[in-house]
Amino acid sequence: ATAADLGARLLAWYDRDRRDLPWRPKPGETPDPYAVWLSEIMLQQTTVAAVKPYYARFLERWPTVAALAAAEDDAVMTAWAGLGYYARARNLLKCARVVAGDLGGRFPSTEEGLRALPGVGAYTAAAIACICFGCRAVVVDGNVERVMARLFAVEAPLPGAKPILRTLADALTPTARCGDHAQAVMDLGATLCTPRSPACGLCPWMDACQGRRAGLAEHLPMKTPK
Ligand code: ADE
Repeated sequence: ATAADLGARLLAWYDRDRRDLPWRPKPGETPDPYAVWLSEIMLQQTTVAAVKPYYARFLERWPTVAALAAAEDDAVMTAWAGLGYYARARNLLKCARVVAGDLGGRFPSTEEGLRALPGVGAYTAAAIACICFGCRAVVVDGNVERVMARLFAVEAPLPGAKPILRTLADALTPTARCGDHAQAVMDLGATLCTPRSPACGLCPWMDACQGRRAGLAEHLPMKTPK
């Protein structure tokens, strides 16, 4: 199957089966970069289920980046309590103050500009750039690495295989609907192409999956023993 064909099948699956997540705009809605940024920071090292109530509370209390920037540090740290990784909360405030202050309330619209913000790494910059601004960006997290390792039967172990898996994800990334594509690959990894007992029978890439064909799907990605 060609990259274009795989991409089209993935988007058809996403249009039918996408998860309804609170930070995900409904089809046709314009994403709010503040809301997407907040969700992506919270989702680092934290599960969707754990993030949901925090995300709702933050957005209700601080509906805009200007509101968050004006918050007391203690109020934000208290609201964050339980999510863990408190450096994320400190950077969250720092970032809100940079955007609300120096940047006039607007998030940068390029990966490079986003990457310069406190607490925004390569993953988060790529996610915001493609979801909010339609940039062609390659979003790679653990889910995406697992999906690529299986689809292309990459037996080289992590972490060494990271650059190969990124190159494969890049080659599959379309120019159109890049944000939907990125979220679709993440959904595939989170819902069907799971670490254990993947639901290959429901996968839009089932017949193209080299890992499945080799009987290896569940064993990929391999990991270098610690
Ligand atoms: N995990 C982190 N961000 C995500 C997103 N935007 N869609 C699906 N899974 C995610």
